[in-house]
Amino acid sequence: MADHPTTARVLVASNRGPVSFGSAEDGSLTLRRGGGGLVSGLSAIDDPNAVWVCAALGAADREAVRRSPQGRLDRGGFDVGGQAVRMLDIDPEVFDHAYNGVANSTLWFLHHLLYDTPTAPVFDAAAAEHWRAFEAYNRAFAEALAAEAAPGAAVLVQDYHLTLVPALLRELRPDLRIGYFLHIPWAPVDYFRLLPDALATAVLTGVLGADRAGFHTRRWAEAFADCCERVLDAKIISGAGPGSELSVSYQGRTTRLGVHALGADADFLLERAHRPDVEERLATLRAAVGDRRTIVRVDRTELSKNIVRGLQAYQHLLRSRPEWRGRVVHIAFAYPSRQDLAEYREYTAAVLRISQEITEEFATDSWQPLILQVEDDFARSLAAYRLADVALVNPIRDGMNLVAKEVPVVSDAGCALVLSREAGAYPELAEDALGINPYDVVGTAEALHRALNMPAAERHERTARLATAATALSPQQWFLAQLAELSD
Ligand code: G6P
Repeated sequence: MADHPTTARVLVASNRGPVSFGSAEDGSLTLRRGGGGLVSGLSAIDDPNAVWVCAALGAADREAVRRSPQGRLDRGGFDVGGQAVRMLDIDPEVFDHAYNGVANSTLWFLHHLLYDTPTAPVFDAAAAEHWRAFEAYNRAFAEALAAEAAPGAAVLVQDYHLTLVPALLRELRPDLRIGYFLHIPWAPVDYFRLLPDALATAVLTGVLGADRAGFHTRRWAEAFADCCERVLDAKIISGAGPGSELSVSYQGRTTRLGVHALGADADFLLERAHRPDVEERLATLRAAVGDRRTIVRVDRTELSKNIVRGLQAYQHLLRSRPEWRGRVVHIAFAYPSRQDLAEYREYTAAVLRISQEITEEFATDSWQPLILQVEDDFARSLAAYRLADVALVNPIRDGMNLVAKEVPVVSDAGCALVLSREAGAYPELAEDALGINPYDVVGTAEALHRALNMPAAERHERTARLATAATALSPQQWFLAQLAELSD
């Protein structure tokens, strides 16, 4: 093993890793590389000793782990793009309870305010069992990181799945510099307190195990600080000046809170959006739309993305402003997500129902008012970004929302952005977007109307400013800034 360094100076940990596997018919494994901010961000490090620790998500991933010494895919003969990746084969039932039962149900619903509170959440015996699995899953990550890290290494722990890791890792390896970054919002304190007290404490002290905890916006950082103050009676220290960092002091340790608004990766997007597969899809979409205006949305079929109210707003627009009938097409891409959860299956059905209603109410022989696609196709999404006259991004609540930042960068002729004020991206884009309250369907329809009527020159100018704001912090800078903060 002499040719393999045994310890890393920079480590990243996240539930979903940079690669995933499928099985081909002949039993061989097929490798798929993922995208996203973290993948591009990490590409900025030219340290060959960097390691990414992630979980096996399905059977083929587990098989790949079994074929790799110590779960190190790069040592198992897989082409993971020059990246050292340690994938954890966590017991499938433990993983299911941690990922579906706690992370994507409890924590996701809590921070995005998604509960229908008369009936949920319910913290019963099953929930307690899920929580124990969540602890075991977090412990598996902490142990793997502790085993891979060189003395004094920097570890960047990602997202709500790994909420408990910073504290668990600090116990195992007090020498490490630990950063945590949350990619989703943080719940307001009264809502956070839906959690049983012991869980609320564990979540907060888990994060406080880090030297520095990062958020996309000041609003989420303040919500976290507020929970620490009210639930733990921790002391909040805010530095001088409006942009200064907050810190949380609790039981003799201080955790600094940082704000890093992840931006769109302009170089990657612009290059990718002009490849032949995108051009081909653009031609198909253009043929379907004709000379009509387009309203585009692209999301996972995710409760927090508010797709149903978005479609209701479009329906209201066509009802209340009949001049748009026959003159606009709504292109809605809603890709499958988290179908193991009943709420997501029901939500997907609700999206299909309202889509059908719109088609039945308005379609004519010569006009399809809505093009809904539910199969994931990144090239087609980019084609829709290029074509969009109006982009609709109306989440109930969102940590950042990169679609809002990507569309202005990729748009060919300028695009009016209708944007929820509850998206993390909103403060950065507010000046040139049309802001909406995501619950207000009538207000959203009015904003769509204004966006469709925006003069081409104004749209063009606003889009240029939106693109500048959207790319202020590239994924590479975003990542390096957090690393630098850990060294200070
Ligand atoms: C959000 C989370 C990510 C997650 C992604 C997709 O953006 O912040 O951590 O990976 O959704 O969700 P999934 O459950 O498919 O990983």
